[in-house]
Amino acid sequence: MTTTDDAPLLSRLRLTGYAAAQLLLGIVALVVFVMSVTGAVLMVVWVGALLLVVSIPLTRVIADAHRRMAADVLGLEVPRPYRPVPQHAVHALTAVARDPMTWRDLAWCVWACTFGWVVALICVLELVAVVTWPLWWWTLTPKMRARSQIDLWFLATSRTEKLEQRVQVLTETRADAVDTAAAELRRLERDLHDGPQARLVALSMSLGLAEQQLADDPTAARPLIADARSTTTAAIGDLRSVVRGIHPPVLADRGLSGAVQALALDMALPVEVVSDLDGRPPAPVESALYFAVAECLANIGKHARATSARIVLSHDGERLRAHVSDDGVGGADPGRGTGMLGVRRRLATFDGTMSVSSPPGGPTDVVLEVPCDLSLPRTTPSSGPG
Ligand SMILES: Nc1ncnc2c1ncn2[C@@H]1O[C@H](COP(=O)(O)OP(=O)(O)OP(=O)(O)O)[C@@H](O)[C@H]1O
Ligand SMILES: [Mg+2]
Repeated sequence: MTTTDDAPLLSRLRLTGYAAAQLLLGIVALVVFVMSVTGAVLMVVWVGALLLVVSIPLTRVIADAHRRMAADVLGLEVPRPYRPVPQHAVHALTAVARDPMTWRDLAWCVWACTFGWVVALICVLELVAVVTWPLWWWTLTPKMRARSQIDLWFLATSRTEKLEQRVQVLTETRADAVDTAAAELRRLERDLHDGPQARLVALSMSLGLAEQQLADDPTAARPLIADARSTTTAAIGDLRSVVRGIHPPVLADRGLSGAVQALALDMALPVEVVSDLDGRPPAPVESALYFAVAECLANIGKHARATSARIVLSHDGERLRAHVSDDGVGGADPGRGTGMLGVRRRLATFDGTMSVSSPPGGPTDVVLEVPCDLSLPRTTPSSGPG
């Protein structure tokens, strides 16, 4: 609800309340500004860092309060625009210093404790003196709206900045997608080279020898032909597993829920699968999510020492979600291997995310999410297995 929805008097009293809060916070803004500048100057000695550790979070708190007030006055949604802060103290300080919003917050402090403060003061004073009530009544709303707009000019990310951030994300995920595709091609090349190609070479040699033997000693050719036959069967098996790695037939035939069910059945521990999907995501998303769940299950088998696991597949109208959990020992850390990082990268290509919660002692929860629509369920059966 915005201030304009209220009764006129109530709405004005609320705006004046905001102005009074801005008066108080304007003084805090002055203090944190002085602390931040002093802290930055004294960074050469450790006292500087101590000042910044206090002043920067405090600046963010008062800036957030002004974002909320401005959002209410203008009837807008203003998201919190800060970049995530890493846990490690030194990394956190660098990340905060690199965040443009930190510097805009500081510039805003100057506005909030000078001209902005004067605007708020006028709004409050006009209510205190009876003679200025008409002025208060007629000019309060435009003044507070103007002040809020200027606040947001400092405190909210502009459209251009949002687009710049988006371009940055797209550039990174595109590079990852190209790398992933190249790695997949190399894997396929290696699989074909080591498997079917080697077997076909052996097959060709067996058949060549059998051909020579056939004229002189047909009985001696028999075992060679039998050999060739079993090599053919093995080559077909190899080809099948290569094909399965590209797009598992079970995924094409039974969709994500069925394919995940098949993965669960292959596990040594009981894995419950719950799915409320009533349609199919686009094939590349389906495939990415399938391999992501497969990696999570492989990790449970390898690392978790769990007694049971559970997979919940759902779609909330905007995002397809797979929640994989186990009751094992916990301690999953994407930084320690290549599997989970690969999953994260693969999902990022579709603007998807992977979040991991795995405290020591367990349990482990991995949530994989990809924004996408579901198509209507298929009514005709797919073509038979290839
Ligand atoms: N479900 C789990 N329970 C406990 N630990 C886990 C779990 N999943 C992952 N881990 C831990 O997180 C680490 C990272 O997992 P990741 O899949 O990235 O690598 P990996 O499985 O060790 O190797 P690979 O690159 O072959 O997948 C693992 O080494 C393991 O220690
Ligand atoms: Mg792994």
